[in-house]
Amino acid sequence: MKGPFYITTPIYYINDVPHIGHAYTTIAADVMARYKRLCGYEVFFLTGTDEHGLKIERAAASMNLHPKELADRMLERFLSLWELLGISNTGFIRTTEERHRRVVEYAFSRMYEKGDIYLGEYEGWYCPFCESYVTERDLLDGRCPDCLREPERVREESLFFRLSKYGPRLLDLLENRKDFILPDFRYNEVVSFVRAGLRDISVSRTGFTWGIPVPFKGSHLIYVWFDALFNYLTGVGFMEDEQMFKRFWPCNWHVIGKDILRFHAIFWPAFLMSLGLEPPQGIFAHGWWTVEGRKMSKSLGNVVDPFEVAKTYGVDEFRFFLMREVPFGLDGDFSKEAIFARINGDLANNLGNLLSRVVTMIQRFQRGRLMPPGPRSGEDERLEEEVTNCVRGYEREMERLSYYRALQYVFDLVSALNKYIDEEAPWRLFREGHRRLPTVLYNLWNGLRILTVLLFPFMPEKTKHMWRALGLQSPLESASFDEERSFHLIETSPIAKIGPLFPRRD
Ligand code: MSP
Repeated sequence: MKGPFYITTPIYYINDVPHIGHAYTTIAADVMARYKRLCGYEVFFLTGTDEHGLKIERAAASMNLHPKELADRMLERFLSLWELLGISNTGFIRTTEERHRRVVEYAFSRMYEKGDIYLGEYEGWYCPFCESYVTERDLLDGRCPDCLREPERVREESLFFRLSKYGPRLLDLLENRKDFILPDFRYNEVVSFVRAGLRDISVSRTGFTWGIPVPFKGSHLIYVWFDALFNYLTGVGFMEDEQMFKRFWPCNWHVIGKDILRFHAIFWPAFLMSLGLEPPQGIFAHGWWTVEGRKMSKSLGNVVDPFEVAKTYGVDEFRFFLMREVPFGLDGDFSKEAIFARINGDLANNLGNLLSRVVTMIQRFQRGRLMPPGPRSGEDERLEEEVTNCVRGYEREMERLSYYRALQYVFDLVSALNKYIDEEAPWRLFREGHRRLPTVLYNLWNGLRILTVLLFPFMPEKTKHMWRALGLQSPLESASFDEERSFHLIETSPIAKIGPLFPRRD
């Protein structure tokens, strides 16, 4: 074991059913969790649901349900989506759990006793949809800059967190840890925001009841974002299992969307500093998906249902598409044409074709057996070098969650292997009874085996088929990246022709 590794997704609001955005963040975190397991880390992967707040209280009221009933119903949808998508989380948290209430109450009281939370008055705009205060200067034509809905004017007694006090320490943190926030342009945004000066933030609300009451001021509820962020501690045993907490905190990565970066990169580290706890190691903010060029919204009726996409195109095809289509961190556009093009191009024509060519040749030319290689030529050395370079490039990019680039290395390797087949023409070597044949097939088989391992975090099911097609019997899930990255000969079961792994779609 290489040590602990802790990764999280945001916890999702359960006022509505999950959509492609939720699937995106969760799949992205899952890819990293699987990759790190492959590398030998003890991975704790947390996801969950954000169940308190006005938005949920209102949604429930409109359906004549108690908020908890709504949460219970929606929870099922989220859980079945994660199961369908092959999400390998090891922890799950609901903010309505008792263990979480204890953590949030403790943190709030502790910060109050310390003088970091104080009583004041808030007057301004509040967007109930985003559960967020909106400053006058951020309004867009009087609307919330994030969801473009009309915010509400509120004036109320409120508890404030002394965020202003933590500005200098946050700047220090940012200064010393250039990789604290990825991608880099998001890091720069946060730095300028902090440099411009931080104001104290309101951390309590009145006027509704669905939330955790402020322990020492019952008419106030703890602000839902304060409540939500602490899930990252509760989920990993804070105040419950100190040993586990010590092992996994600070978290390695919070994977989030760009819309919730300030909460994670500014408020959250400041809360932790106030409690004397370490800030997370890294935050990755990804971009948003539009649908056929338009913002996804209920009113436009273009919300992409991840259940449907997964059923239509296949789970792994969907996972792959999301990670391969746009550089992780930038915005992307979802369309049928785009997903078809990926499936037919990368998966069917390139990868699928390579696999079926290689296994068919091993079956036909060597009766399904892998043979020891003979003497190597320059081409073989060049191929192996190319494989090594791709693996190194992949590794470097994966460490920064640059999935798009990591996959570029994988597909460079697919092309290199296809080209090697064309150049070496194993069918000709076979016809001529040439002694190079076993070497060429050995190289191709090894290249494919390595490819399969590199693709496993992205397509956990399809790669299992590839693994078996290569005659490998050990479970792919427990493969080790360090052992699999180089060429070697192992005993395989008979290798036989297979049906198309990625059927072409029209
Ligand atoms: N509950 C808060 C998070 C609290 S974390 C302590 C929340 N929940 S959410 O359900 O609204 O959204 C969660 C995630 O979905 C965010 O990372 C957000 O960026 C992502 N997405 C929502 N719509 C999206 C797209 N259209 N495209 C990509 N991701 C999007 O915020």
